[in-house]
Amino acid sequence: MKAHIVTLPGDGVGPEVTAAAVAVLEAVAAHYGHTFTFDEQLIGGCAIDATGVPLPLAALAACQAADAVLLGAVGGPKWSDPNASVRPEQGLLALRAALGVYANLRPLQVHPALANLSPLKNEKLKNVDVLFVRELTGGAYFGAKTRTADTATDECKYTVAEVERVVRRAFDLARGRRHRVTSVDKANVLETSRLWRSTVQRIAADYPDVRLEHQLVDSMAMLLLTQPSSYDVVVTENLFGDILTDEAAALAGSLGLLPSASLGEGRRGLYEPIHGSAPDIAGQGVANPVGAILSAALLLRHSLGLETEASAIETAVEQVLQHGPHSRDIGGSASTSAVRDAVLSAIDDHVDTAAAFFSGVRACG
Ligand code: NAD
Ligand code: IPM
Ligand code: MN
Repeated sequence: MKAHIVTLPGDGVGPEVTAAAVAVLEAVAAHYGHTFTFDEQLIGGCAIDATGVPLPLAALAACQAADAVLLGAVGGPKWSDPNASVRPEQGLLALRAALGVYANLRPLQVHPALANLSPLKNEKLKNVDVLFVRELTGGAYFGAKTRTADTATDECKYTVAEVERVVRRAFDLARGRRHRVTSVDKANVLETSRLWRSTVQRIAADYPDVRLEHQLVDSMAMLLLTQPSSYDVVVTENLFGDILTDEAAALAGSLGLLPSASLGEGRRGLYEPIHGSAPDIAGQGVANPVGAILSAALLLRHSLGLETEASAIETAVEQVLQHGPHSRDIGGSASTSAVRDAVLSAIDDHVDTAAAFFSGVRACG
């Protein structure tokens, strides 16, 4: 198949991990006979430096015309003055809104070889397999903001339609998994959460085969640490989802491991690791590229419908997590490019094994 992918490497470690993910996509294209074209565009702090705005119109137009968008990370100390009139993060938020990608899927699994890196006891980490579905284009991120010398406000607003579409996505995804949804809110305090909860309750009636529970966000933050294997699909609003998924990444062993897929109504999606620009390690070639590489796998699955190819990447990453090399954040000393190369050679092995298997099957037949 032919596909056109826009890349937005962004700032800090963004370009380092995005380059690794692109190399993996190129290898997959070569192995499976696809033609992927890549178009690199500016977003974030580097876009502010070059054009004065964090999401130039040319970058947005390119994303809107692409089959999928692969993003690294935006932001960093250079652009973090609280009084700055424009910020890198505004570019990312504008892009999510413009692409209409309201459902942010953040899968969490804990690889047994990394369980020792987690602050939790090993036995708590067995069978952890959670899919967070974070609402991505509403809530406090997008409400009106005000600021005077001594007062500031961020409006948190949700409509029923905004809640309904993301919650339906979560229930649909649960049907392909273990048929359980945990909806996280703060309905004991927030009006938006009460609207959220009553909408979830109404929608649940359409999914009698899916078991629903509600959880308040503060206790959910605790339960994620005490019984992480109890959860299947966790659906929540924008800000709660942001915070809970960084917490979840600690269970996996590093923020550098988790991918994400941001989806709307069509097939086009925005794919990015959940981590940021990691200014403390940027430019050193030591960032973990796994979150970005697994985001590329999600891109193949959700935007291009290439399930075999997506699984090939995931299997290759599992092998590298099992046998190394490991980057610094997960206890090793391997560079970003050494991890990338190990994933590439594991993909080679996987494709060769599959080819040998199928030629064997043909020979037998
Ligand atoms: P961060 O995620 O950049 O870093 C937090 C910690 O995790 C750091 O110690 C960092 O070294 C480590 N880390 C992150 N990614 C890693 C990787 N791939 N390999 C190894 N270690 C990794 O969070 P922060 O420091 O709070 O934020 C820095 C900047 O990134 C801020 O400007 C923030 O707004 C931005 N940010 C952007 C995104 C995004 O573009 N999607 C996401 C989160 C934060
Ligand atoms: C993330 C990031 C972003 C968010 C920031 C950079 C706007 O933390 O993707 O998790 O809060 O959504
Ligand atoms: Mn975040």
